Amino acid sequence: MPTSLIILAAGQGTRMNSDLPKVLHHVASAPLLVHAMTAGAALSPDHTVIVAGHGAEAVSKAALAHDETARVVVQEAQLGTAHAVAQAAPLLKDVSGDAIVLYGDTPFIRPETLEAMLAARATHAVVVLGFEARDPGRYGRLVTSGDSLDRIVEFKDASLEERAITLCNSGVICADTSTLFDLVAAVGNDNASGEYYLTDIVEIARKRGLSAGVVICDEAETMGINTRAQLAEAEAAFQTRARAEAMENGVTLTDPDSIFFALDTVVGRDATIAPHVIFGLGVTIESGAEIRAFCHLEGCHVSRGATVGPFARLRPGAELAEDVHVGNFVEIKNAILDEGVKVGHLTYLGDAHVGQHTNIGAGTITCNYDGVFKHHTEIGANVFIGSDTMLVAPVTIGAGAMTASGSVITADVPAEALALGRAPQVVKPGFARKFFDRLKAQKAAKGKLS
Ligand code: UD1
Ligand code: CA
Repeated sequence: MPTSLIILAAGQGTRMNSDLPKVLHHVASAPLLVHAMTAGAALSPDHTVIVAGHGAEAVSKAALAHDETARVVVQEAQLGTAHAVAQAAPLLKDVSGDAIVLYGDTPFIRPETLEAMLAARATHAVVVLGFEARDPGRYGRLVTSGDSLDRIVEFKDASLEERAITLCNSGVICADTSTLFDLVAAVGNDNASGEYYLTDIVEIARKRGLSAGVVICDEAETMGINTRAQLAEAEAAFQTRARAEAMENGVTLTDPDSIFFALDTVVGRDATIAPHVIFGLGVTIESGAEIRAFCHLEGCHVSRGATVGPFARLRPGAELAEDVHVGNFVEIKNAILDEGVKVGHLTYLGDAHVGQHTNIGAGTITCNYDGVFKHHTEIGANVFIGSDTMLVAPVTIGAGAMTASGSVITADVPAEALALGRAPQVVKPGFARKFFDRLKAQKAAKGKLS
């Protein structure tokens, strides 16, 4: 049976006090919306519909950048969660199977929880995700009798007795797609907020003789972000889990609290990560690789046995093959380093390919940008690039060649050749001594005059 995801993301998020729509604020280097999309994607949905409103253009762009098959509908006025779900109806009206409603500002729902909800659909027409709240605050309350959910009452509309209930509504709801839209169409706005509450579909379903049930998850999963403080809390919660997971998976983290993972970081067993390492999106570290202190990595791949840092920066497109060594104050961008390449110190390699076992001397720079275009540098295998070589791209250095230290290389170098691109050295014997003797004599003469 196909599954559809409907992600509500139209709200402004006033309390963020931001020009950026709330769901585009980042946790673990990814927009909140992408966290929700990732959780939902674990169910391999056939349709993903994002309901955007405030900042719809930016939200749409971020959604499609993450998943180009997602579709975005715009809810012009935010009249409530039921009204938001109804916006997806035109896109999904002929779709069979179940639909799951998620919130774009609730990043931590686990795929296993969503699977449990789909499984619970075997016994209930409407399945709601609930949690036992330590502080139920203003959450909607789940009114149950035995295994069955009678209705959800919003805090504003709840009696004192109902407010005493601690089983709360996470907002995640699952039902057959066409049933969901039928129920949503029957929701009115005669309540304390004058909004169309999605939560009302439970009572409507029950009145129609349909059953409703609750799947309960950990409160941590339902954490919604409304403020910058909660954003920081969410970051901390994510990192705590990611660090624990990495260590369980056999990764050594010397100082876990100083290491920051991204939503999609993958680190293999027996890799070691030293203190103060930051991962952006799209990083894979293979087993046994070593990331030394103070490195920043994003969009890169580090193979088995490679060492990176301390103080190295790997930018998108950096591909390090096995046993590559990247040392301190080295930046690599869009460059493939074949097996055993050594780039020890103070170097920039951008838009380049470096062949096996080549050694890049300290202070080497690929001059890849002419102010308008980027150009490629091709360096063969077993090359020796002398310290302080400027490689003015496009340029090719043949296998087994070498460049002299301090060279500015503007033309291709054939295999096994030496390229010297610097002024020839001039030596003047005794010059230094005579020069300083003269200056010292001048100084002494001046002293006598005054
Ligand atoms: C909602 C639930 C409440 C639950 C709580 C959990 C309803 C009526 N209430 O309340 O039972 O305990 O979530 O956090 O559903 N949104 C839209 N369009 C709208 C309104 C909302 O897209 O017209 C989006 C928001 O951007 C947000 C989500 O839906 O991502 C939830 O809306 P919000 O207004 O925060 O609902 P709550 O009042 O928190
Ligand atoms: Ca909310």
